[in-house]
Amino acid sequence: MKIIKFHLNNKPVVVRADPSMRLLDLLRIHLHMTGVKEGCGEGACGACSVLVDGVCYDSCLTPVANIIGKHVVTIEGFRNTKQYRRIADAFADFGASQCGFCTPGMILNTYALLKKNPHPSEEEVRIALSGNLCRCTGYNAIVKAVLEVAEKGGEW
Ligand code: FES
Ligand code: FES
Repeated sequence: MKIIKFHLNNKPVVVRADPSMRLLDLLRIHLHMTGVKEGCGEGACGACSVLVDGVCYDSCLTPVANIIGKHVVTIEGFRNTKQYRRIADAFADFGASQCGFCTPGMILNTYALLKKNPHPSEEEVRIALSGNLCRCTGYNAIVKAVLEVAEKGGEW
């Protein structure tokens, strides 16, 4: 056990935890961030995505030791931003979310993409979201939603 200090959704957090614990478990079980989903548990589905210093990580593959001193953002924190609203509105307009299990990861990865590349091509969107699996939508609605948000422009 070790004292772990980091920022979660812009608030300082101090916990005692095994540094080898999965970030996913720290967030879901100990800090009740249940918007972080566990799908595959092995880095293949993107449902557990979180932002660490602005970059998307699979929290199921990230040991807690790797986030010491960093800023972690989950969908619970990201949903208070204007960027979330813009992405979520486009997802709603295009029917890009059905059961919603993949949606937090899709939204966080969309944000990470648009921050890096505000005007991606369709191929770039598909590549950027290729690590996020969706069992419901068939992906086309998600890709259209992301292209629509990009088309509208704005600050990322
Ligand atoms: S649960 Fe982490 S990538 Fe699937
Ligand atoms: S909306 Fe159900 S898994 Fe994507």
